[in-house]
Amino acid sequence: MTAEGTRGLFITFEGGDGAGKTTQAALLEKWLTDAGRRVVRTREPGGTEVGTLVRDIVLHHRGEVAPRAEALLYAADRAHHVETVVRPALDRGEVVIQDRYLDSSVAYQGAGRVLGTDEVRQLSLWATEGLLPDVTVLLDLDPSVARGRLDADDKPFDRLEAERESFHVRVREEFLALAAAEPERFLVLDATLPPARLAAAVQERVAPLVR
Ligand code: TYD
Repeated sequence: MTAEGTRGLFITFEGGDGAGKTTQAALLEKWLTDAGRRVVRTREPGGTEVGTLVRDIVLHHRGEVAPRAEALLYAADRAHHVETVVRPALDRGEVVIQDRYLDSSVAYQGAGRVLGTDEVRQLSLWATEGLLPDVTVLLDLDPSVARGRLDADDKPFDRLEAERESFHVRVREEFLALAAAEPERFLVLDATLPPARLAAAVQERVAPLVR
């Protein structure tokens, strides 16, 4: 089940770290609010108070977190976020713009941690009672280019960012495979394009859905 059937619209941004998701989510929010739409902009992990606590564990815990525990923590964050933030907004007829959703779990935990993409997807579908986005924008970026952007940022790496290049290559390949499997949901964009061109492509995809 997608957000169809409710009156709202559920749009997610996906991609590797450093791909520019946050910038594009902000630009889309501005475009839609300028057009008079009510928008809820949120993210995973960490879109709720409970989620902020989960985010702290998965991104900043200094010791080991077992891969299955990590997958369950992201799923727990998602279950709470969907029930308390996303579905209520969709039920009110609003547009939800979200930085990362279940495709991130499939790519990072399923492919990156090699837990199995089908099982991780099923876990998220159980957590969310089957909620899928109407549109998912994948900002595709070569992990070595992404690494350069993150280095330039000068922020310490979190647990996932600190993973090896081979991990991030698996994540990217899985995102592309997910997009190929569901072309009607995904819009794949080359994240090296200038932000204004990316924003225009996103607007073109979303425009018919918000008329
Ligand atoms: P993000 O909030 O995009 O990081 P930042 O704010 O530092 O740009 O995502 C945090 C990290 O969590 C990112 O490396 C991807 C990872 N992640 C997963 O591994 N699985 C998931 O299900 C989600 C939502 C994120």
